Amino acid sequence: MKTIVDTIAATRDITLEQLQTVLSATDTAAVDYLYARALETCRSVYGNAVFMRGLIEVSNHCKNDCLYCGIRRSHASVHRYRLSEEQVLECCATGYRLGFRTFVLQGGEDGWFSDTVLCHMVQAIRNAYPDCAITLSLGERSRESYRQLFEAGANRYLLRHETANAAHYASLHPAEMSFDNRMRCLQDLKEIGYQVGCGFMVGSPGQTVETLFEDLQFIRRFEPQMVGIGPFIPASGTPFENEKAGSVETTLRLLAIIRLLHPRVLLPATTALGTLHPRGRERGILAGANVVMPNLSPKDHRKDYALYDNKLCTGDEAAECRVCLDRRIRTTGSQLVVDRGDFRE
Ligand code: 5AD
Ligand code: FES
Repeated sequence: MKTIVDTIAATRDITLEQLQTVLSATDTAAVDYLYARALETCRSVYGNAVFMRGLIEVSNHCKNDCLYCGIRRSHASVHRYRLSEEQVLECCATGYRLGFRTFVLQGGEDGWFSDTVLCHMVQAIRNAYPDCAITLSLGERSRESYRQLFEAGANRYLLRHETANAAHYASLHPAEMSFDNRMRCLQDLKEIGYQVGCGFMVGSPGQTVETLFEDLQFIRRFEPQMVGIGPFIPASGTPFENEKAGSVETTLRLLAIIRLLHPRVLLPATTALGTLHPRGRERGILAGANVVMPNLSPKDHRKDYALYDNKLCTGDEAAECRVCLDRRIRTTGSQLVVDRGDFRE
């Protein structure tokens, strides 16, 4: 196994057989070696800095009906909300005071957020915080829409590909959503000039070592600046509510592998990972992750943005999360920094 880890690190490539071996390994010393190599690789590029992104959940209205998602359209008991531009700017102001230099506007696919509404919002943030990065995570839109938002001042876009296998994609999404359109969006975003993040859930229903291998090949080919992965967590009221959650261990191994395949990638230790294990985010950092994305959304709406059950920090103030994370990250020997945290070319 150690030889395999060294080979992956040296070639920045992995075979299906090697992936199978790493994911099924039971030798804890060997798995620790994988994490150590990934951490060392991360630190050789970014030092011991961990970048923070302030997540602002702008709307939980969504026209889509993804089978896994707690805010899917047909989940009738969700209390729907959307934030005004003024509320979003207040979140940014709080975030800026706390040292955030990246704001992530995330939301469901909500038709109310037209290009006009969003461009106005992005411009307002851009004018107020010229030194900050603006990241959007608002799902599938037209190329023209992505272009206008980029012109308005957005720098980055997160759109998880969810799975690189078309049949698996079809089993996670309703018939009106298409794998090809997802790929078209990612391509458009890249061509327009965004720093792009793709990603997937670990342990989503129907996922296999083979589909994971396709995910890793897609990441190698697409060369995203960011990759967001976290365990699948069943959300009550969805078709997948009785499915098994993804594994923390598998998520950590995949984080480490992605770091070795793509040393400069920005890799979050996700809230989902922190939800399934009390030290999940810290363990993510020790396996090669270098980003955390605490919540800056207004406290009274957080519980309504429940993509999955038991999500972390829904009752905490942004300032509390900042202090908590600072302390947690320091236990790993890394350090939260006040920095945009751009991709290092
Ligand atoms: N468990 C874990 N992650 C989820 N997401 C959506 N629903 C769940 C869930 N039940 C992830 C998807 C989406 C991102 C915003 O959140 O990958 O792209
Ligand atoms: Fe909207 Fe899943 S239903 S992202």
